[in-house]
Amino acid sequence: MERLLIRGGRPLEGEIRISGAKNAALPVMAATLLADGPMTVGNIPHLHDITTTMELLGRMGVELTVHERMQVEVDASTIKSFRAPYELVKTMRASILVLGPLLARFGRAEVSLPGGCAIGSRPVNLHVEGLRAMGAEITIEDGYIKGRAERLHGARLRMEVSTVTGTENLMMAAALARGTTVIENAAREPEVVDLARCLNGMGGRVEGAGTSTLVIEGVDRLHGIEYSVLPDRIETGTYLTAVAMCGGRVKVKDTQPALLEVVIDKLREAGAVVETGADWIELTMTGRPRAVSITTAPYPGFPTDMQAQFCALDAIGIGAGDVVEKVFENRFMHCLEMQRMGADIHIDGQTAHIRGVDRLTAAPVMATDLRASASLVLAGLVADGETRVDRIYHIDRGYECIEEKLAQLGADIRRLPE
Ligand code: EPU
Repeated sequence: MERLLIRGGRPLEGEIRISGAKNAALPVMAATLLADGPMTVGNIPHLHDITTTMELLGRMGVELTVHERMQVEVDASTIKSFRAPYELVKTMRASILVLGPLLARFGRAEVSLPGGCAIGSRPVNLHVEGLRAMGAEITIEDGYIKGRAERLHGARLRMEVSTVTGTENLMMAAALARGTTVIENAAREPEVVDLARCLNGMGGRVEGAGTSTLVIEGVDRLHGIEYSVLPDRIETGTYLTAVAMCGGRVKVKDTQPALLEVVIDKLREAGAVVETGADWIELTMTGRPRAVSITTAPYPGFPTDMQAQFCALDAIGIGAGDVVEKVFENRFMHCLEMQRMGADIHIDGQTAHIRGVDRLTAAPVMATDLRASASLVLAGLVADGETRVDRIYHIDRGYECIEEKLAQLGADIRRLPE
């Protein structure tokens, strides 16, 4: 298995470009199933999760053409299978996003239940309940969600918890349903807004994106368009946190500062000087950061996908910080690995109490999810000695060319082949 070798201790300087958002690209790729003509999706990041999505669509018989600079043309008119098999869904839970579009457009779907996850139980009950309320007949058999529908109809859906892919799945289904669907307590994440914008470009009628109530007027058909997904706010935040930890000055370009306000506020609280422009953020850091306390929450709260990176920052911060994880039940695996690098972290239920230490020391580490792995890379960038991060296929699921981007900023990092 490939691994990353990182020799810590260098400041980061320079400029990097932020890729398209994984968590926006995945639902938009699923939305191509709704279009009655070819659709081109641009600013697609070159990531393992995207390859998995392309494989999933390809196996259904959908025609895919990759153009220059990761523009993907998708034509769903050739579809002949409506099944998302376990072997793909188990590597990428977001495969569940095809459920709503398949039922809405083709009236049938068989999607494997995703099963266990390294960061918590992550059920999909709200996706299923919402589709049932819209008229789909759904059974759970042989580990699969099996659904049938004539034409879905609008419904009033009250989400018990705010769910990002749940909202996206139901929004896509409602876009082609007969009548009006109202989703209450909808997720407000920018990626949900991006999907709504895409659907509206395709001829859909989605209102209220970015608020907690979505009103979706179903239409009879949606057409293909050229759509470019929004920049990755979590990738942006990860690199900014790296600079706040390592020191230096870095400008991240092709991003959207407005999507990262709470993260930028926390980086400022940690002592970073942050300047922003229309599509760039520059962070300057001298000396050690101050440890900060954070509590994760659905957008516009502090993102759970930035929690692990802030644990790494606190681990070398001045003072102490409490990191409270409120979105997922078991998302502190990285803390146990950081302890092996000398971090002073005490986990008590959903809270990690972190007392910053002067220095971390290198160790072989690995993690079981994407953001946890990224946080270990950040810890490696400041640790004494050579850190080896194993199981980096997690990182490749969500960070485009992480070692190239960090090396471009002066980090001593390289990938070792299998
Ligand atoms: N939940 C339920 N029932 C459901 C659905 C969700 O109880 O039917 C609960 C979950 O167990 C969790 C909470 O709702 O406690 C929120 O989960 P959500 O459904 O919002 O998560 P998700 O849609 O599965 C997306 C991102 C995650 C990100 C979360 C939270 C994608 C493809 N994934 O997951 O991204 O952490 O929202 O913001 O958009 C990542 O990129 O590393 C990642 C894990």
